Amino acid sequence: MNAFDTPCSLDALDPASPTCEPDTAVADAAVPAPIPADLQAALDRSGLHPLTLGGRTLLPIVQGGMGVGVSAHRLAGSVAAAGGVGTLSSVDLRRHHPDLMERTEGLAAKVGGEAEAKRLIDEANLEAIDREIAAARQRSQGRGLLAINVMRAVQEYAAQVRRALEAGIDAVVVGAGLPLDLPDLAQDHPKALLIPILSDARGVQLIVKKWERKKRLPDAIVIEHPRLAGGHLGAARIADLGDTRFDFENVIPQSLAFLRSAGIEKDIPLIAAGGIRTHEDIARVQALGAAGVQLGTPFAVTEEGDAHPEFKRVLASARDDEMVEFTSVAGLPARAVGTPWLKAYLKIESKLQAVAHVKSRCTKAFDCLAQCGLRDGLAGWGQFCIDNQLAAALRGDVKKGLFFRGVGALPFGDQIRSVRELMERLLTREAMAGA
Ligand SMILES: Cc1cc2nc3c(=O)[nH]c(=O)nc-3n(C[C@H](O)[C@H](O)[C@H](O)COP(=O)(O)O)c2cc1C
Repeated sequence: MNAFDTPCSLDALDPASPTCEPDTAVADAAVPAPIPADLQAALDRSGLHPLTLGGRTLLPIVQGGMGVGVSAHRLAGSVAAAGGVGTLSSVDLRRHHPDLMERTEGLAAKVGGEAEAKRLIDEANLEAIDREIAAARQRSQGRGLLAINVMRAVQEYAAQVRRALEAGIDAVVVGAGLPLDLPDLAQDHPKALLIPILSDARGVQLIVKKWERKKRLPDAIVIEHPRLAGGHLGAARIADLGDTRFDFENVIPQSLAFLRSAGIEKDIPLIAAGGIRTHEDIARVQALGAAGVQLGTPFAVTEEGDAHPEFKRVLASARDDEMVEFTSVAGLPARAVGTPWLKAYLKIESKLQAVAHVKSRCTKAFDCLAQCGLRDGLAGWGQFCIDNQLAAALRGDVKKGLFFRGVGALPFGDQIRSVRELMERLLTREAMAGA
């Protein structure tokens, strides 16, 4: 059972819940079910182009993966059910499963048994991936596309990618590092879609050239703008976030020109991410040549979002002047709401960095990141436990939590609405939406 405000049971769909009613018309999982008729009609009226991915015709709207636990089965399954791409985040998904938490609770405090603690926590997270994919699939009613986001910077990246593929995920999306080895990991799953997240045209060239040698091409590429998106950002330093090479007006045409020169322009749809909030934003990036868009923050605050209602309130009510950019423990710049914990941390960050040193063990015993500024004593990197902070945000602890967010006012302001309403709003021109 999802821990937060979840009307839909994981093990079996709850027939009493109107949002969980199985649709008998779309029971055959082998044949993708069409976009629901009302949203198809909205797409037809919108002037926007559908997204074609893996042979399926979808709404041109992707819900980005959001850890820890912000996009689990309820959000991803609901987005897919609406005919879009719903994305689970693989990071520490056991947090949505009280039995898995109970099984692994207290292990971190046991000195001496670190290897066993790590093994048990990693195993619990893999089990949670199986459960979440199955539940998202059920909720999707065979519509849309289901993806999982696995951050390259996560230590168990390879094991999580493999497990998700074995569980039958449609697509694997990888950011926070260059997934040069993703084609190798997916070798036995030729039908699974592989989607890297990049931020500039140079990254697009590099991945395409390296993957070509492995005889596989990306099935799509997410182009995420570091000046606009939430969470970890694809620039080396905070000072680089505003670099014009990341602007959609530059990176989309440049990437398309490269793909055209390689004769593969039609094979790799580009998906623009970061600060996309309206129909006009989608139309603008489609005019530049993008096939679709990825949104994070607007989906995180939907009714179906898997985090605590307080998490949604913090994100929905934050204004742009409250946003903070800082260096994460993963060594990457990140963007979040300036909540009490983050402000207090930033006040003492330089002092913490000055005394950074290699620790004998990870605070949480499972070494979530392959390289961690806190555990590995990397002085220029963040000095806090990211799993602790993101888990606090997930359970709505406004004082202790770290609340990742992209910039820009949200489609419904500070209101919490459903995934369906968000999809309709995004497919409707501003004048019509306001009418
Ligand atoms: C709360 C939150 C958590 C996120 N976590 C991840 C993540 O685990 N992996 C990832 O690749 N991107 C992550 N992102 C980025 C989103 O997937 C998405 O690309 C981005 O938020 C788009 O920008 P927007 O929020 O302005 O729409 C996160 C974003 C938010 C807001």
